[in-house]
Amino acid sequence: MKNLLPAEQVFERHYRDSSADFWARFGGMPDVEGKRVLDFGCSTGGMVHRLMKAGASSAVGIDLSMRAIAYAKERMAEEWGDRVDIRCEDVIEADIEPVDFIVSQNTMEHVMPLKETLTAVVNLCKPGGEMYFGFSPLWHSPYGHHNYPKTRVPWWHLLKGHDVVLDAFRDRVGKDYATVQDAGFNCATPADFREAFHAQDVEVLSLRYNVGRSPVRTAISQAFRIPSVVPALEKYVTVGMYWHLRKK
Ligand SMILES: C[S@@+](CC[C@H](N)C(=O)[O-])C[C@H]1O[C@@H](n2cnc3c(N)ncnc32)[C@H](O)[C@@H]1O
Repeated sequence: MKNLLPAEQVFERHYRDSSADFWARFGGMPDVEGKRVLDFGCSTGGMVHRLMKAGASSAVGIDLSMRAIAYAKERMAEEWGDRVDIRCEDVIEADIEPVDFIVSQNTMEHVMPLKETLTAVVNLCKPGGEMYFGFSPLWHSPYGHHNYPKTRVPWWHLLKGHDVVLDAFRDRVGKDYATVQDAGFNCATPADFREAFHAQDVEVLSLRYNVGRSPVRTAISQAFRIPSVVPALEKYVTVGMYWHLRKK
């Protein structure tokens, strides 16, 4: 991996490891043979590549990151030609022929406005099509700052205030954001996500919280959620949400 460019590294990690981890949390990757699929928040295209390898007939990847999309476009064109359509645009404005299957990994905790963006994604699914949205870490969870700053102290960003996050972006990547929303965190709580998802034209086939890559990790992570019996504490101990939906 050492000699790869950063975008290639991101692609390789996503394709080989993190997309596999994602599907492990849903009990395995569903059958996509012959389906037209969409990855919302596709970044460099690792998940799109995995779905195409699994037999999808065509795929759309959409993301706002110009750098990630430039890599995804080139890499997917080489591998799949015009069967894969990679787009750098806001899903709210996208004009895409509806698909049979949608996946979105670790993206919903970044989207703004939450409900409208989710509606735009759901509208791209054909009736009866299935959708998988899995995302973590949520903002109020112990490391909801996504490693900005790098610290093992849980909830450091909530204890010290948003400036520690903004300072970390400035120091590490030279980005000067005024707010954590500008830095890409929507700060939504589990209740906000439930409100947005339940407002959609979908059947919720399952919703699971704090799902790990293995049953043991899941058991530990779900034990951590026990304080949610006090509703005000739920957001601090909910690390991830995993939704499996069917479009009505
Ligand atoms: C944290 S990245 C996740 C990338 C990838 N799915 C993964 O698991 O590594 C979230 C991505 O969602 C994209 N995104 C957020 N809002 C979006 C929108 N409204 N339309 C398209 N892409 C969006 C961002 O550009 C960002 O690259």
